[in-house]
Amino acid sequence: MFEQYFSERIKNTPSSFIREILKVTQNHEIISFAGGLPNPISFPQEELKISMNRIAEKYGAKIYQYSTTAGLNSLREFIVDRYKKLWKMNITIENVIITTGSQQALDLIGKVFINDGDNILVEKPSYLGLLQAFCMYRANFIPTKLNEDGLDIEDLKNNLKLYKPKLAYLIPNFQNPTGLTYTKDNRNKVFQEIRDENLILIQDDPYGELRFEDGERIPYIGLNETEKNIYLGSFSKIVTPGMRLGYIIANKEIIKMIETAKQASDLHSNIFGQYLISDYLYNNDLDKHIEKIKKLYKTQANAMVKSMEEYFPKNIKYTHPKGGMFTWVTLPEGSDVLKLFDKAIEKKVAFVPGHPFYVKPDKVNTLRLNYTNADEQTIETGIKRLAESINEI
Ligand SMILES: Cc1ncc(COP(=O)(O)O)c(C=O)c1O
Repeated sequence: MFEQYFSERIKNTPSSFIREILKVTQNHEIISFAGGLPNPISFPQEELKISMNRIAEKYGAKIYQYSTTAGLNSLREFIVDRYKKLWKMNITIENVIITTGSQQALDLIGKVFINDGDNILVEKPSYLGLLQAFCMYRANFIPTKLNEDGLDIEDLKNNLKLYKPKLAYLIPNFQNPTGLTYTKDNRNKVFQEIRDENLILIQDDPYGELRFEDGERIPYIGLNETEKNIYLGSFSKIVTPGMRLGYIIANKEIIKMIETAKQASDLHSNIFGQYLISDYLYNNDLDKHIEKIKKLYKTQANAMVKSMEEYFPKNIKYTHPKGGMFTWVTLPEGSDVLKLFDKAIEKKVAFVPGHPFYVKPDKVNTLRLNYTNADEQTIETGIKRLAESINEI
């Protein structure tokens, strides 16, 4: 009825496939590996309650008032200190802007950088929220293959040569949807390839803190070597997603432009949430809290991998995540993952078919599993059901 009124921009943007799937999984008998939610037991509820009372006492009306677009200075300072300590990054608060989750950061980057038809290099598969956000700005996506080590260097070389992309969007740590992490060597190679190109590199890192295997975090690509780097961080997976708080770290000139775009979008991110998270961060030990989350996710990830080893037919491949929230399953070529989805729902287990993570979903034989929302026993039961479904299609 309203077709003629809607913009071409919105008409060409796919609605989130996952939301449709989540409707199916509302049924409580279904074991769902479909969501992407952090485990609610990882939220520091008691500490946040204390912070809530403290900020109400300490700041009064300020926590309910309009505020500045770039975000609360104390929160930006916390981010600066953390990145200085972690990576010796040479930044000040002018390099940081607070966003309404990383999702808004993606939208703002789209607004600031993308003209109709601009070539944007993305991983294949990529984060569906990015595909949706940049689709609004009529990006021309250049999907680039992933392999076990990270980005496929040959494919990267070819795509850089052929398409001269303006931006590259990568998730080097515990990627969504695959759970893959770029090795140190792969990161160096990626940097070698892009260092002389005219592109800006966006590294989206909501899961980087959640490495539960192999100790040390691996530095970002081109860290401290180029100004053409934009980092996206988020408090969603390490404190709480409901406050919708993330941040962008970039060159000051870029931050200024993003600030203008953000003014037009929402004036500023929720200030109550910013006071709350800031107070929480200054009065608690974030690293200790993150250790708890990692311990929990490691147990859950191990339970899933162990069950897949035990129950899946041997021709099914899957990633072994070292952090983050997902594993990615590849069925034999020619398998129909949508048929498997219907069968799995019959058997009361759900997952996300690979489709929404591809720019051009064609003959999709992959699927994403989330392990952070079920206990070990439930994970085993769910994987058994999935294995039976695989055997029956
Ligand atoms: C790769 C990636 N980027 C960004 C986001 C958005 O996170 P938020 O807006 O909660 O910070 C997500 C959420 O799942 C994600 O997986």
